[in-house]
Amino acid sequence: MINIAVCGSNGKMGQEVIKAVNTADDMTLVAKIDIKDGEFATIKDAKNSVSIDVLIDFTQPKSIYENALYCLNNNINIVIGTTGLSDEQIAELKSLSEKYNTGCFIAPNFSTGAVLMMMFAKMASKYFNNAEIIEFHHNRKKDAPSGTSIKTALMMSEENDNFTAGNCPEIETLAGARGAASYNNIHIHSIRMPGYIASQEVMFGADGQILTIRHDSMNRECYMDGVLRAVRYTSDNKNFVYGLENIL
Ligand SMILES: NC(=O)c1ccc[n+]([C@@H]2O[C@H](COP(=O)([O-])OP(=O)(O)OC[C@H]3O[C@@H](n4cnc5c(N)ncnc54)[C@H](O)[C@@H]3O)[C@@H](O)[C@H]2O)c1
Repeated sequence: MINIAVCGSNGKMGQEVIKAVNTADDMTLVAKIDIKDGEFATIKDAKNSVSIDVLIDFTQPKSIYENALYCLNNNINIVIGTTGLSDEQIAELKSLSEKYNTGCFIAPNFSTGAVLMMMFAKMASKYFNNAEIIEFHHNRKKDAPSGTSIKTALMMSEENDNFTAGNCPEIETLAGARGAASYNNIHIHSIRMPGYIASQEVMFGADGQILTIRHDSMNRECYMDGVLRAVRYTSDNKNFVYGLENIL
């Protein structure tokens, strides 16, 4: 049995994760941690009371780095769904995970379809030099651009280091009109609107053609298969992984 703690247990993702863990034959839920009305208010409180094999974190961008540092420094394997970590923070978590042989699995997106969208975008990047990403989320999302769009741009730029944003010198008469320039000049545009959960389009253009690769999440159940896979992987391997695509 894998003893699971869910951090952010009262949140939208936390509630869905609890349902998924409760249906998994090989997992036991031992702690529900949330700063707002949780069974435990902090990871430290939970650790002092129960034995945790893997902690699953779906909290908020401003908490995740501290939570992850605490877990890795205290030999608690962690699966991170929370977005908003910087490249420097991810590099630091990788080095702590390797130093202490403690699992750290970070996935900006746990939905298999979304990960396939990212992999297809990486594949298409070999054939196009113009690409932009549009990501759509509900209007309570705290960070922009999304972790998924940043990871997508990173994967695309691993395949092609020659993306061009425009074909002429551009003037933004309204700041932000052209979105945010991310890795290798791939622009990201963030839409926030009630009605969406999470969607993303990756557009590629060349003379006379546009290729659009799109994924839509209809509900939060779509992430659960990936979360449980990551928990099992982390419990067995206790290493550092960034991206669900590495274990599909
Ligand atoms: N990786 C993925 O596949 C994926 C999918 C959806 C959402 N997300 C991300 O997951 C995160 C959570 O999303 P949500 O929609 O569930 O948010 P939410 O606001 O509904 O829930 C967050 C919960 O975390 C709690 N919390 C905040 N800081 C905490 C801390 N330090 N310790 C304990 N609890 C804390 C809050 O009280 C709240 O109950 C966001 O960063 C979101 O972008 C990732």
